[in-house]
Amino acid sequence: MSVDRDFSVISPAVQWPIAQVEQVHLGVMASGNGSNLEAIVSAIACKQLKAKIEVLIYNQPEARVAQRAERWGIPTVLLDHRAFPSREMLDAAIIQTLLQSDVEWVIMAGWMRRVTEVLIDAFPQRILNIHPSLLPSFSGIRAVEQALQAGVKISGCTVHLVELAVDSGPIIMQAAVPVLPEDTAVTLQARIQQQEHQIYPQAIALAAQQIYS
Ligand code: GRF
Repeated sequence: MSVDRDFSVISPAVQWPIAQVEQVHLGVMASGNGSNLEAIVSAIACKQLKAKIEVLIYNQPEARVAQRAERWGIPTVLLDHRAFPSREMLDAAIIQTLLQSDVEWVIMAGWMRRVTEVLIDAFPQRILNIHPSLLPSFSGIRAVEQALQAGVKISGCTVHLVELAVDSGPIIMQAAVPVLPEDTAVTLQARIQQQEHQIYPQAIALAAQQIYS
């Protein structure tokens, strides 16, 4: 007997279109695959999000995100953390790159380094992060595995303003997904990422207008 399952998402409170007056100038920081960068670029290309990505900063030379950005004609800057003696010095180089690129909002999309007060103070209330859990649950690394181990029946993703403590700061937007009995970290992460790609561009539009609903 087949069991009907409801894969529907607990929808975000806000849906497109979000009326934006000004175009926002974004700098994206990423370390890996770059599917969230791709989702943001796609929302811009579809004219859902009124923004321009001025620069991608990445720290892993082999990161796929760099190839994705180059395909879209986005300037890329490699700042390999191993070349900097401290987190603060890496952050200072990041700030210099962002300012040279006229960035207003900093978008962390899978940036796998802890940021310091140096960066946070340079862009107060203007740094966003996306995390694959319903914060404040399961902050830190391996959030999807943490959720599976805890046996929660609902998980999801969160976009928030960045504060100093890891994965903390005012929440801009969340989406929830069911956790299914047969889920592995791979299947649950894929379901969560589908929602990340929906909410991150929307959250950027909201945050840029100071709408923290
Ligand atoms: C996302 O799952 C995000 O929540 C986490 O890092 C991952 C980045 O994925 N912070 P991608 O590189 O955008 O595909």
